[in-house]
Amino acid sequence: MAVTSIIDNYYPLFVLGIILVAVANVVRAKYFGRIKIQYPGSETVTISKGTTILEASRIAKIPHQSVCGGKGRCTTCRVKVISNQDSLPAPNTYEKRALDRIGLEENIRLACQLRPSSDLSIIPLVNSRNSLEKATNPKALSGKEKETAILFIDLRGFTKLSEKNLAYDVVYILNKYYSVCGKIIESNFGRLDKFIGDGIMAIFDSSEEIAENCKNAVKAASQISENMKSLNGQMKIEFSEDIRFGMGIHAGDTIVGLMGYGEKFSETAVGDNVNVASRLEELSKKYACELVISQYVAEKAKLNLDKFNSDLVEIRGRKENLKIFPIHNAAEINF
Ligand code: FES
Repeated sequence: MAVTSIIDNYYPLFVLGIILVAVANVVRAKYFGRIKIQYPGSETVTISKGTTILEASRIAKIPHQSVCGGKGRCTTCRVKVISNQDSLPAPNTYEKRALDRIGLEENIRLACQLRPSSDLSIIPLVNSRNSLEKATNPKALSGKEKETAILFIDLRGFTKLSEKNLAYDVVYILNKYYSVCGKIIESNFGRLDKFIGDGIMAIFDSSEEIAENCKNAVKAASQISENMKSLNGQMKIEFSEDIRFGMGIHAGDTIVGLMGYGEKFSETAVGDNVNVASRLEELSKKYACELVISQYVAEKAKLNLDKFNSDLVEIRGRKENLKIFPIHNAAEINF
């Protein structure tokens, strides 16, 4: 049979075959290649296999941090996987490099790189939308003991500053200060836990190694000191104001878990060591310095503090005095 007559005879069958394959692919993708991602609470997003968790968040318009834009170059999109961990694909090169660098737990993955092939439950960890009623997984709510480093920051003379300036100007100044501190904390693998008026609490627990967490917390404090100086230059010009601040860092066992009620719900740390970090921040007033760190933090972070004085202070509820290092200019710390 001539080639032209074969084409003439079977052409309709070829076309029909192509259409059937295309329809089968659509049906497979729609009904059989779909998986469910469960976010804290009842929110479930259905996606095709091969979609990243970050894309799932975007599809469902769920707020999800991604400072590097999904390129695997930060860790702000990280999520805790709380079900079906055995089904997870191995991290790709980018994800492995980022996770190895900061030593995250195995069930913490980068949302922009993770393409699950079966149903998962996850909790976004950085600045995720928080809602107590949305956290249905009892494991996530029970909390667990974990060694963390805690940084407290507080503005000095805030009452005076708010008396002298119009309310909108105070909001502007505060937001500048929050933004400087927030960016630095996140770029050093910490997470903003709370804004308490003019105060900030940050938790550094991204690494399994407390030494790494302490180092990250001190680096953040040092960079905040440096950056606040340039912010001060700007504030002097715009408002004739100097923003003064004090910081305290301590580390140790804390209970980390999802806590709150209603829409006010977040993963936070509580315990005696958190109170000590807050107390060290208060002591920075007494020592008229930028930062007070505990000896434990200094040792873990392997800081060279030869040029700084130390002191012993009483901490309420503790039998022994605590050795501290008041640091006048935190930007001068050597690592
Ligand atoms: S968004 Fe930066 S690593 Fe995922």
